[in-house]
Amino acid sequence: MQFFDVIQQRRSIRSFLQRPVAEEKLRCILEAANTAPSAGNFQSYEIYVVSGKRARLDLARAAHEQLFIAGAPLTLVFCTHSARSAEHYGKRGEKLYSVQDAAIACAFAMLAATVLGLGSVWVGSFESDQVREVIGSPPGIVPVAMLPIGHSAERPDPQERRGVKDLVHWVQ
Ligand SMILES: Cc1cc2nc3c(=O)[nH]c(=O)nc-3n(C[C@H](O)[C@H](O)[C@H](O)COP(=O)(O)O)c2cc1C
Repeated sequence: MQFFDVIQQRRSIRSFLQRPVAEEKLRCILEAANTAPSAGNFQSYEIYVVSGKRARLDLARAAHEQLFIAGAPLTLVFCTHSARSAEHYGKRGEKLYSVQDAAIACAFAMLAATVLGLGSVWVGSFESDQVREVIGSPPGIVPVAMLPIGHSAERPDPQERRGVKDLVHWVQ
């Protein structure tokens, strides 16, 4: 698939078939995430792969009862590892770069899933501490985005966007 077809075709998918994601596809998605740029190439983030039924339900509960999360065969949880960035960039690394590192890795994973014919949705609304409990991440490894992935059971219409003219500001 051409890149512009990929970004045109991607939709947030919140309904999934009860069909597992092939291991090879998951591996490709994780490899794609790992190609994402990061501040200083320090990759100040961690990825947790959640596939157990109970853990998926607990994630859904931690995400304010967004129960579709439990319906996806797996969810990737992208966490900041801010100490890695803070070591080199101080506060800016801790508060900003680690979040950006995790976010762009999540975006790469999302687009890779699309190319592989899988659906996904970025989930940002959740209680970080509860998610940390589910994934068992140590202190300092903070979840910032979740990505349930699976075979789509829906084909939503594209969502409207602001016009480019509205959001782009030209400076000379
Ligand atoms: C930072 C962020 C947080 C989001 N959080 C949620 C969420 O908690 N639950 C959800 O269902 N969708 C969530 N979304 C998905 C958006 O609702 C979705 O991207 C938007 O409505 C546009 O639709 P589209 O992705 O199909 O183009 C989030 C997206 C982003 C980028």
